Amino acid sequence: LSSVEVDVAALEPGMSLTVKWRGKPVFVRNRTEQEIEAAKAVKLDELKDPVARNANIASDAPANDIDRSAGEGKENWLVMVGVCTHLGCIPLGQQGDFGGWFCPCHGSHYDTAGRIRKGPAPENMTVPVFEFISDTKIRIG
Ligand code: FES
Repeated sequence: LSSVEVDVAALEPGMSLTVKWRGKPVFVRNRTEQEIEAAKAVKLDELKDPVARNANIASDAPANDIDRSAGEGKENWLVMVGVCTHLGCIPLGQQGDFGGWFCPCHGSHYDTAGRIRKGPAPENMTVPVFEFISDTKIRIG
């Protein structure tokens, strides 16, 4: 199957789930206000990878928080391939120096928008093609 549907109705702010899509984990997180604010406060020139890496928008779009998220009105939702862009380990959620994800393999720290902030990983975690097909359902792929 090339796409999966995910029911996110039960995900309160601060909760995540992981689904498998094309053999890879995809993290779906309902971010808290604090997580969104923290990500928004970061300036582009502080980012190691300033590109959004979001398959739903232009390939050169900057890595602003809004362009990493599900977009206007849905900024709380972060959907991304849960694979470290260094050598492909699966990062751990809500850990690391930036409160996002931490890859224990070689110590890459991602922020609450899944952007690489410290460590050997070269790029932000990828946002796959996805869309909300209802208020509580996401189709990935
Ligand atoms: Fe994640 Fe190396 S695979 S830091």
